[in-house]
Amino acid sequence: MQPRERLIFPLDVPNKMAAERFISLLKDHVGLFKVGLELFVAEGPAFLQFLTETARVDYFLDLKFHDIPATVRSALSRIMKGARLATVHVDTGRESLQLNPEARENGVKLLGVTVLTHLRPDDLEAMGLAREYARDLTKLVLLRAGIARAAVCDGVVCAGTEVKAVKEAFGPDFLVVCPGIRPAWAAVPGDDQQRVMTPYEAIKAGADYIVVGRPIRLAADPVDAARKVVAEIEQGWRDRSCLP
Ligand code: C5P
Repeated sequence: MQPRERLIFPLDVPNKMAAERFISLLKDHVGLFKVGLELFVAEGPAFLQFLTETARVDYFLDLKFHDIPATVRSALSRIMKGARLATVHVDTGRESLQLNPEARENGVKLLGVTVLTHLRPDDLEAMGLAREYARDLTKLVLLRAGIARAAVCDGVVCAGTEVKAVKEAFGPDFLVVCPGIRPAWAAVPGDDQQRVMTPYEAIKAGADYIVVGRPIRLAADPVDAARKVVAEIEQGWRDRSCLP
């Protein structure tokens, strides 16, 4: 895999026109474009078809499903060719974390979302999580990654700070995708991400893919920012290979 293929750029923009600008700018500098709720609600499946047939780029369908198993399974069965990754919240329960054979044949990989990276221990405790897990996010992520693994997910989404533990527990083939990435040189106004890491640190710790949005999207020169992230990925990968 080329270093740039490990970089996922989220199309966190309000409409197709704004997305097209970033696709043409970044097409040759990132590996996958991520379509999340905002753009999907605005533009629907026609936009996904546009990505595959017109823009000719692969995408990560990050709709983070959270519903009863039958509903999640039906939604997953409608995922079109061109989607490389899709997400379901692990706390939806093991039965929802299954990818149907049709989607798998189309090359989709299913990821379980463990714990959103903006959540703090206080938030989790307020939601009723046992203190033992709310105060130890790595423990909570490992518990949920274990559920995802047992349900035959291809991997998980978690913060860079938890990657090493997940890789150690579940092995190198269990994919780990990390959002909440902040290069040392990027300033994100009013940042809501907790548990952040630089691209270099996350890749060195074992991440297979990193999601980098605002540090690239808000940069004066997004292409230059993407290039700098890819250089960090390359360095992180090289240093990872040197680990004992
Ligand atoms: O780099 P930035 O913070 O702008 O990236 C935001 C993106 O990361 C959003 O698309 C959001 O959905 C995604 N994200 C995620 N999982 C998390 C936290 C953020 O996929 N746990």
